[in-house]
Amino acid sequence: MIENSGGKTVPITLKVNGQSYSIDVEPRWLLSDVLRHRLGMTGTHVGCEQGVCGACTVLVDGKPERSCLMFAVQAAGREITTVEGLTPADGLSPVQEAFQNHHALQCGFCTPGMVVTVEALLRDNPHPSEEQIREALSGNLCRCTGYQFIVDAVLDVAQKGVR
Ligand code: FES
Ligand code: FES
Repeated sequence: MIENSGGKTVPITLKVNGQSYSIDVEPRWLLSDVLRHRLGMTGTHVGCEQGVCGACTVLVDGKPERSCLMFAVQAAGREITTVEGLTPADGLSPVQEAFQNHHALQCGFCTPGMVVTVEALLRDNPHPSEEQIREALSGNLCRCTGYQFIVDAVLDVAQKGVR
């Protein structure tokens, strides 16, 4: 959570989902907190805040990164994509639709991080094996689903080649 300590702020430009945002941040503020509390992008969830759960995963220059392990100042000038940026204005992406169809979420807390990770996986490897999917998602924890339905959803999108 961002608390303004009255400390020194620095101006940065964050490029998020194709848009530039010029904001002042304290150097200690995390990217995850700035996305949520300064830019209002609450699709990026924060669970553990220590790099373990993967709920806060965003793409930084196309690579999945934990936004709770990165200071906002470190993300300045880089291309950040959040789950909002992967969601079409008029509905769901094929990955999101597959999650819905396969009941690959229950509480949904892990889902944004899962979706972001899966997007990067399918971009790099459009036809992953079940093992490769499980490996790619090994840093995204889900306490509800038991993972099988998530894997099924990813296999389905990969098979349809609709991403
Ligand atoms: S909140 Fe970032 S990894 Fe858990
Ligand atoms: S759906 Fe609840 S943590 Fe994954």
